[in-house]
Amino acid sequence: MMPDPSLPRVKASAVIRNIGQLVTVAQQPIDGATGPLQVIPDAAIAVYKGTISWIGPDDNAEPMFQQSTGASKDGITIIDAQGVVVTPGLVDSHTHLVFAGDRAEEFHLRHAGVGYGELLAQGRGILSTMKATRNADAETLTELAQTRLNSMRTYGTTTVEVKTGYGLDKITEETCLRIINNLNALEASPTFQHNRIRVVPTFLGAHSVPPEYREQRDAYVNLLVEEMLPSFVGLARFCDVFCEHGAFTLEESRRILTRAKELGYALKIHADQLSSSGGARLAAELGATSADHLDFADDAALDAMREAGVVATLLPGCSYTLRSPYPSARRFIDRGLKVALATDFNPGTSYCENMQMMLGLAMSAMDMSLEEALTAATINGARALALQDIIGSIEPGKHCELAFWSIRDFHEIGYHFGVNQVQSVLVSP
Ligand code: NIG
Ligand code: FE
Repeated sequence: MMPDPSLPRVKASAVIRNIGQLVTVAQQPIDGATGPLQVIPDAAIAVYKGTISWIGPDDNAEPMFQQSTGASKDGITIIDAQGVVVTPGLVDSHTHLVFAGDRAEEFHLRHAGVGYGELLAQGRGILSTMKATRNADAETLTELAQTRLNSMRTYGTTTVEVKTGYGLDKITEETCLRIINNLNALEASPTFQHNRIRVVPTFLGAHSVPPEYREQRDAYVNLLVEEMLPSFVGLARFCDVFCEHGAFTLEESRRILTRAKELGYALKIHADQLSSSGGARLAAELGATSADHLDFADDAALDAMREAGVVATLLPGCSYTLRSPYPSARRFIDRGLKVALATDFNPGTSYCENMQMMLGLAMSAMDMSLEEALTAATINGARALALQDIIGSIEPGKHCELAFWSIRDFHEIGYHFGVNQVQSVLVSP
């Protein structure tokens, strides 16, 4: 077939063809796409040097690449999507992946009426995971984290933020940061990877005051501010704080995050999760990238967050696990905030690797539409990691990170629940 001169000339090292529905979540209008998620039926994607170089109707790919499906010619790899739905890889922007032990007992104790805060005050909760984590060697911690990462990927996640926070001493926190960074150090390969995942490291030394500092909490905050934060520069992209009654006060949180900002960390905060602690307002004051949980944040704090461009990250896995009311996303979206969804994968409040579960809970219990939920799990997750220019949507110029779903209509997402609807992910080198 002669090339059609009216079609743009596109550089491609790979072309993904025969995509039944390409859910681009593009942030600008795309030719031939419809709806708020900018969906293109019967689509193709061209990739060059890891970057998306073209998207459009599959018919236009045919003459452009002079290729038929399933073959490889002229150095162009052709991937046949066999008519399924393709979306951006899911972005899980809040997880606590590195820990040893489990807290199944607490899950069932809470059923008997024992509260999360009560368990923490008894030295259980985060502190029991801290003990198990301190007692585990680096190899075991790495294996556990890698297994969880693999599980996340099978459910469609291609980028994941991972926090420390179960070491709570300088040595273990550093070990955990190095483990997180090594999860990221995947072998470079010139071809597509089905086993890659992008990892964004966060330092959460301010997760809980460890028992040895219980009577001198100022000394622990000093240790964080004067020793850990300066020496972990370059190992973590973000600094996070659990600002909560029983964890860190507003003033302590302000001190830690202010120092982190001076040192060049971007900021996150566990804010207003169990009570109104002022964390959301602090996020706005300091220009945090995201504030997470927000169950008890008041309207004025949400307005301040919107004005400061702070992403609101909602974590329905916690409501599920703690049996607490789900925050309605309407409150946030209708006020103009960008809402992200994440798993908060951790052994205490959300032991779940599966972002599809979060999409389902958001649609069934948090008043989110399919369009809002998918936006929250892709481009807004990317925003919560300050990666929105690189990932989170399928558009020319972005890195190619895709989820292939075993469905032909994206409206099945959230509707058919409790099963894994993702068949594979694909991340360009
Ligand atoms: O995001 N809230 C603080 N941190 C975690 C829980 C960690 C734990 O219980 O081990 C959260 O919910
Ligand atoms: Fe968390």
